[in-house]
Amino acid sequence: MAVIFFALTIVLVGAVDAEISCNVTTFGATGDGVSYDTPAIQQTIDSCAAEINEQDGDDFAVVIIPAPGRYLTGTLFLRSRTILHISPGATLLASPSQDHYPALESRWYLILAENVSNVGITGSDVGYTEPNVGSDVGIPGPADVGATSSDVGVIDGQSCKFVESFNSIKNVMVSWNQTGACYGDECRPRLLGFLDCDRVHIWNIQLHQPAYWCIHVVRSNNISIHHVSILGDFDTPNNDGIDIDSSNNTSIYSCNIDTGDDAICPKTNDGPVHNLTVSRCWIRTKSCGVKLGSASTSDFYGLRFNWINITESHRGIGLQLRDSGNIYDVIFSNFNIMTRYYDQSWWGRAEPIYVTSCPRSPATVVGSIYNVSFVNITAVSENGIFMSGPEGGLLRDLMLENIQLQLQRFTNYTGGLLDYRPGCQGLVDHQNSGIFIERISNLLLNNVQVSFGSDLQRPFVPIEIAPATIPESIEFVDFSLFYQTSLG
Ligand SMILES: *[C@@H]1O[C@H](CO)[C@@H](O)[C@H](O)[C@H]1NC(C)=O
Ligand SMILES: *[C@@H]1O[C@H](CO)[C@@H](O)[C@H](O)[C@H]1NC(C)=O
Ligand SMILES: *[C@@H]1O[C@H](CO)[C@@H](O)[C@H](O)[C@H]1NC(C)=O
Ligand SMILES: *[C@@H]1O[C@H](CO)[C@@H](O)[C@H](O)[C@H]1NC(C)=O
Ligand SMILES: *[C@@H]1O[C@H](CO)[C@@H](O)[C@H](O)[C@H]1NC(C)=O
Ligand SMILES: *[C@@H]1O[C@H](CO)[C@@H](O)[C@H](O)[C@H]1NC(C)=O
Ligand SMILES: *[C@@H]1O[C@H](CO)[C@@H](O)[C@H](O)[C@H]1NC(C)=O
Ligand SMILES: *[C@@H]1O[C@H](CO)[C@@H](O)[C@H](O)[C@H]1NC(C)=O
Ligand SMILES: *[C@@H]1O[C@H](CO)[C@@H](O)[C@H](O)[C@H]1NC(C)=O
Ligand SMILES: *[C@@H]1O[C@H](CO)[C@@H](O)[C@H](O)[C@H]1NC(C)=O
Ligand SMILES: *[C@@H]1O[C@H](CO)[C@@H](O)[C@H](O)[C@H]1NC(C)=O
Repeated sequence: MAVIFFALTIVLVGAVDAEISCNVTTFGATGDGVSYDTPAIQQTIDSCAAEINEQDGDDFAVVIIPAPGRYLTGTLFLRSRTILHISPGATLLASPSQDHYPALESRWYLILAENVSNVGITGSDVGYTEPNVGSDVGIPGPADVGATSSDVGVIDGQSCKFVESFNSIKNVMVSWNQTGACYGDECRPRLLGFLDCDRVHIWNIQLHQPAYWCIHVVRSNNISIHHVSILGDFDTPNNDGIDIDSSNNTSIYSCNIDTGDDAICPKTNDGPVHNLTVSRCWIRTKSCGVKLGSASTSDFYGLRFNWINITESHRGIGLQLRDSGNIYDVIFSNFNIMTRYYDQSWWGRAEPIYVTSCPRSPATVVGSIYNVSFVNITAVSENGIFMSGPEGGLLRDLMLENIQLQLQRFTNYTGGLLDYRPGCQGLVDHQNSGIFIERISNLLLNNVQVSFGSDLQRPFVPIEIAPATIPESIEFVDFSLFYQTSLG
């Protein structure tokens, strides 16, 4: 592979002068893993923040969780101009008890920053500056990105304490639903929350076993997340990696995400997601690697995903629009994808690329997906590419360029299902296709190669263009098919 150099200049928190540092032991944190250190850590954060905010300027206060130690805690609230520093060798352990979290379900986070600016979390000792990521391009393996636990601090959500019964298909989870504010098995605390924040920085840290979503950023601006390793539970539902909701100017790079549910999942519940860049990440998930659209009342635009490796996942890139927002001006480039089947209770049918728009309910006016490109994608998958527009509408201006798709079986799950979930037609029994196209106008397939092994269980048609599509607007340039008797 050609080595391409470009300067990744991300200056958000930038070089940080740590003017003040505070140690949580001063207020009596024990780190014994048994007593609750919540009050001691919170008092340290508050007094440290008060001190720095008496000064003008952009200096930070650093709140140190020293090593060694396991600090058991309930919700901690971050303040402006503070960085929570979990020292290498130290672990922040989430309380599994609802009493240690705020009453309001929307504030159930282990660490919550709300309406603050210049705020961050790190697990490294190497100072508070951005690491040099200058020429760091290329598709990463799992060890090329993220952070190693011996070098950085850990935040552990203790998700196993939220499992009611373990099941290798899908765990059944404890529910904190008491008021009816959240659905049964979705009533669990998230790990990190940034609500209405400006200048958020999360770097050089390991995040283990979130009970629900891991990183949740809402209505915020100027966000940088890098060199983060997320190690969730492969069997736990809703174990999302990074959910950026209604936020602008986000940069995510060099992250390693191995988890049960969607790994990177932007949402637009309360405003658009604009100017999001994700580069150099390694992903493994029992759900979707990069997903747009699980909650999408506003637009997604100006999004760039580059140099991403998705492995052993149920779906690769998923655009799953069900609400009124639109998705446009998005490029997915330089992906390596391996998808396979898992149990049907997880959405996804091993599609490397999945693009659908259909209304969540009869009352929904669903948005459109247009001006989206998939470039330089290599995929080995049990199922083909699936693209389907809404009934009575069309997806438009889509491009697949330099795509190499190899269909191959890895599991014994039966194929032959189109997955329109959530809602819509649900799971539909249908022949397999290398590429399935339905209700699309203006699709360009440029240098697309599909190859088939002989071991595919049900007949695969190379490409199926469903009736409601506008066929004359589909252009094939250098389209090639290969049938092989065996695949090595
Ligand atoms: C924090 O305080 C503890 C207890 O006094 C001490 O052992 C540790 O070295 C301190 N850590 C830092 C980084 O100051
Ligand atoms: C957010 O912070 C600003 C400035 O500190 C304050 O004026 C405002 O009331 C806060 N808003 C909320 C919803 O807390
Ligand atoms: C992608 O990840 C897989 C699985 O970890 C790894 O084997 C492979 O080397 C990585 N890189 C590329 C370019 O596929
Ligand atoms: C949530 O709790 C409320 C009140 O106890 C109950 O009425 C509702 O059925 C529960 N819903 C779910 C999905 O568990
Ligand atoms: C993001 O940008 C859009 C368009 O400029 C703006 O309407 C929205 O309020 C911004 N979101 C935030 C959280 O600042
Ligand atoms: C986001 O960061 C940029 C660059 O530091 C700054 O100019 C801009 O004001 C920030 N946006 C907000 C809303 O603070
Ligand atoms: C996009 O966000 C990045 C930070 O992630 C920022 O440096 C850049 O200026 C933003 N671009 C626009 C057009 O706002
Ligand atoms: C995004 O970042 C750019 C460049 O730093 C800044 O000009 C713009 O105001 C930011 N957008 C918002 C909505 O803050
Ligand atoms: C279409 O997407 C490209 C990036 O692929 C972007 O440069 C262009 O501005 C977008 N155009 C519209 C109209 O969104
Ligand atoms: C796709 O790959 C080609 C050949 O390596 C390269 O020239 C081109 O810049 C790549 N496109 C993108 C969008 O990365
Ligand atoms: C598929 O089934 C065959 C026959 O029962 C078995 O030998 C094989 O191990 C199974 N493969 C997988 C990946 O489970």
